[in-house]
Amino acid sequence: MSAISLQGITKRYPDHVAVDRLDLDVQAGEFMVLVGPSGCGKSTTLRMIAGLEDISEGRLLIGGRDVTHAEPHERDIAMVFQSYALYPHMTVYMNMAFGLLRTSKLSRDEVDQRVQEAAKRLQITELLHRRPNELSGGQRQRVAIGRALVRKPKVFLFDEPLSNLDAKLRTHMRGELERLHAELGITIVYVTHDQVEAMTLGTRIAVMDRGHLRQVGAPMEVYRQPANRFVASFIGSPEMNFLPVPDSMASGRAWLNDHYGNAALQPGTVLGLRPEELTLSGMAGASALSWSGVVQRVERLGAEAYAQIRVGNADVLVRTEADAALETHQPIVLTPALSRLRVFDGQSGALLATQR
Ligand SMILES: Nc1ncnc2c1ncn2[C@@H]1O[C@H](COP(=O)(O)OP(=O)(O)OP(=O)(O)O)[C@@H](O)[C@H]1O
Ligand SMILES: [Mg+2]
Repeated sequence: MSAISLQGITKRYPDHVAVDRLDLDVQAGEFMVLVGPSGCGKSTTLRMIAGLEDISEGRLLIGGRDVTHAEPHERDIAMVFQSYALYPHMTVYMNMAFGLLRTSKLSRDEVDQRVQEAAKRLQITELLHRRPNELSGGQRQRVAIGRALVRKPKVFLFDEPLSNLDAKLRTHMRGELERLHAELGITIVYVTHDQVEAMTLGTRIAVMDRGHLRQVGAPMEVYRQPANRFVASFIGSPEMNFLPVPDSMASGRAWLNDHYGNAALQPGTVLGLRPEELTLSGMAGASALSWSGVVQRVERLGAEAYAQIRVGNADVLVRTEADAALETHQPIVLTPALSRLRVFDGQSGALLATQR
């Protein structure tokens, strides 16, 4: 039985559909990340799971129970918001204890025990007497998480919980969230528009686009085998390159046909290759399948460099060594890692083939 089951979940506003017939099962103990660009319907989906937003159509099960129309407090979930939503006039301790004291049947001692335990786990025991305005952003975030933890819910929902933190703290908190998930074995649905967060945190990620679910899978599976060009472009930074099948190369076309089937040779077909899946060589380096281009610019980042290469009328980004000898205007050959090609339909953008 899934911890959460979304079955044809739809959210319709008077003038548009924000979430369109979404099907998604989240397993117990899973860290499911909903990711996608701004406005694609992530928060709306999360809010429907939480019961903060009516479901226009479809069915929602939590722990096997139909909660499509249940009140938020009947759903056994806890939500952590981007804004933290802490009570400013209460101490950290009371921020964490208040909900339990008010709504649960737990005794004061039991509540105290839970607050102390969560505070210890989140390393905020020393802060329990302070008020939110006496805390750093990262500390406030921990309090918000602590408030969810003490309730021991079936499911934790997070809506962009790290987006107000600076880059360093975000990396640190990512580690903390991972640790919490591993130690407590909790079920998490986590919303972010940041594909790095999605890749690093998710046991699986669900990629959304304009109210539709485009793909669900383990991060590396989505990275390696994106279901379509939208997912291919959205996941991975810098973005995947899209190149036409070189039509002059008979040997290349034969090779493609052998390894990827004849889909690869349909008119308009596009090949997807990530920057790390292309190598650069001098003009003598051309092989069965390669493109020639001209170096436009080289961005040296210290540990690595990215070369922007003009191929026909497209710009292609190639990752290379930091001190690669490359100069602007230099003619160059791009060769793909042949096992990594992805073939996309020129019209629909759907993935047609990866190597068999
Ligand atoms: N109360 C509302 N009334 C009408 N439209 C709404 C309402 N709330 C959200 N929307 C619309 O629904 C769509 C999805 O919004 P949602 O907040 O779920 O996006 P999101 O994926 O969380 O984006 P972001 O990354 O910017 O937070 C958007 O087009 C948004 O404008
Ligand atoms: Mg949102």
